[in-house]
Amino acid sequence: MEIPITGCRTNHEELLKWIRENAELCKPDRVYICDGSQAEYDDICNQMVLSGTFIRLNEEKRPNSFLARSDPRDVARVESRTYVCSLNKTYVGPTNNWMHTHEMKDRLRVLYDGCMRGRTMYIIPFSMGPLGSHISHIGVQITDSPYVVVNMRIMTRMGRGPLEVLGERGSFVRCIHSVGAPLQPGQKDVPWPCNPDNTYITHFPHERSIYSFGSGYGGNALLGKKCFALRIASVMARDEGWLAEHMLILGAESPSGERTYVAGAFPSACGKTNFAMMVPPRGFEGWKVFTVGDDIAWIKADAEGNLRAINPEAGFFGVAPGTSMKSNPNAMLTLNKNCIFTNTALTDDGDVWWEGMTDQPPEHLIDWTGQDWTPGCGRPAAHPNARFTAPVTQCPTFDPEWDNPEGVPIKAFIFGGRISRNAPLVYQSFNWTHGVYIAATMGSEATAAAEESLPAMRRDPMAMLPFCGYNMASYWNHWLDIGRHLPDPPRIFRVNWFRRGKDGSFLWPGFGENMRVLNWIIDRVHGRGYGVESPVGYVPRLRDICWEGLDYDPQKFYELMSVDRDESVKEARDHEELFDLFYDRLPTEFLHLRELFKSRLWRSPEVWKLARETH
Ligand code: GTP
Ligand code: SPV
Ligand code: MN
Repeated sequence: MEIPITGCRTNHEELLKWIRENAELCKPDRVYICDGSQAEYDDICNQMVLSGTFIRLNEEKRPNSFLARSDPRDVARVESRTYVCSLNKTYVGPTNNWMHTHEMKDRLRVLYDGCMRGRTMYIIPFSMGPLGSHISHIGVQITDSPYVVVNMRIMTRMGRGPLEVLGERGSFVRCIHSVGAPLQPGQKDVPWPCNPDNTYITHFPHERSIYSFGSGYGGNALLGKKCFALRIASVMARDEGWLAEHMLILGAESPSGERTYVAGAFPSACGKTNFAMMVPPRGFEGWKVFTVGDDIAWIKADAEGNLRAINPEAGFFGVAPGTSMKSNPNAMLTLNKNCIFTNTALTDDGDVWWEGMTDQPPEHLIDWTGQDWTPGCGRPAAHPNARFTAPVTQCPTFDPEWDNPEGVPIKAFIFGGRISRNAPLVYQSFNWTHGVYIAATMGSEATAAAEESLPAMRRDPMAMLPFCGYNMASYWNHWLDIGRHLPDPPRIFRVNWFRRGKDGSFLWPGFGENMRVLNWIIDRVHGRGYGVESPVGYVPRLRDICWEGLDYDPQKFYELMSVDRDESVKEARDHEELFDLFYDRLPTEFLHLRELFKSRLWRSPEVWKLARETH
């Protein structure tokens, strides 16, 4: 017997056919098309409070907000179970897990058969980007997780609007998600159903589809995010001549009213959210920062050849631990209401807490696993990858340009990893090609955003290592090609906030003080700032950075900017190792650039010690 489709109505025959096919396979009790309304959101949240998935937080302290605790086996993206499928492996390259399309489809058919028994199949129509923008794209996610539905309502433009944009014939990216935990008749559900032994996050770029099974957490389950807006979109972008990037977007406005937009790629949990909402420090009175996005940027050239970016998302899915009124007040203020918290701790008065939120931890908490917690008990109260889901529009620095279908004009790309040694605070590439090179060879030290047991340091080209849906070397070629077609391409910079001194502490205060670096970048972009040539690129001297309002030891600046020759020779050798992986598609430019880098290191015996000589 056919299961009736309830909820929002559509006359899109292909969509209805696809829903019916999947309902037949997954065998849910009900099928419901979401309209995206507040009433629907409230209703699903209330149901989750009753089922134990959600805890309603204190209405006075945190109105209309909820806490979810995940299964302890389902707490982050699972890169080892993330696949890109195609007919041949060279398509996905050496950095993606690959399985033949047919083999994966066979496995999935078995897994999805009956996987939604006892559950509701929700249909979520969503737009990545402003409704109807020529840069935006529509997706439809099927899921059996009400948690995913309400998160998607915050993270995307969801429901009736996108369904209308789709009309009767519009094309959409097919996103199929199940937590993989069917219920037998009478079986009681658990608060966080999942299936860690059979988790697959799989992508079929050729048919623009995504299948995710077994996990309900973040990027594994909110398929508009990494799966669509990065892995599938990177392929669409390659085919259509644009860019889909793991980047924040911000505008900085000077006291004279000049606003400059930049996009920044930093690996997961390396400071995009902080940078996107930065509070200008002392000495930068009159400056304003405008937040467009904190995680993903879709970027396309306009008719004049200016790159313009949109944030395809409508919410922040941000790292909670470390967020405080000191480190990121704008994020804290964003979280005052209408939020979902996942894997944070719960206070005795029904509010949330996480490590770093306050100097003094509360005397008693319920930790992210639901157990009693006291300071000094030896366990963290919040999971290190605990996250908040919050609407972009609630951010005090929210930029109304976020909803501009034309996007914002990008003047600079900033790339930065988490590197404790030998990576300078900031430098500028000599040109676009060299910029692509320094972005492609970016490295970063491991964080908690993905599963554990990562190597201490890994190459993370453009912060896209886990998110590029095709061969990484082809992606580099695509970047080079984009630059060739721009009359005046954005300038490209590398930054590093994470360098440590001999005692192990950070050399750079970071956070709002990063404005000083951004200021130099903006000056360079507008042709005002001074930079000297060094083996790595153009660098600021001490006096090229604005230090007003900060008492910073010049010796520390020299240490921050220093580049050790022997370490850099090793670094060049590492580039070679990275490139060897891509021998068949590597841009030949990269080989030349590496040799030039090596020769610059030897040729300039004085300049490589640059910071001291040139201040
Ligand atoms: P995803 O959402 O995982 O893609 O990551 P993100 O890049 O948005 O990460 P987020 O901004 O949440 O990074 C959080 C981590 O970066 C925390 O550990 C912060 O303490 C740290 N962090 C952010 N900015 C700075 C900075 O300027 N200096 C230092 N030392 N740490 C920073
Ligand atoms: C990241 O890991 O880069 C994130 C979080 O932004 S998630 O959406 O879970 O991928
Ligand atoms: Mn991210």
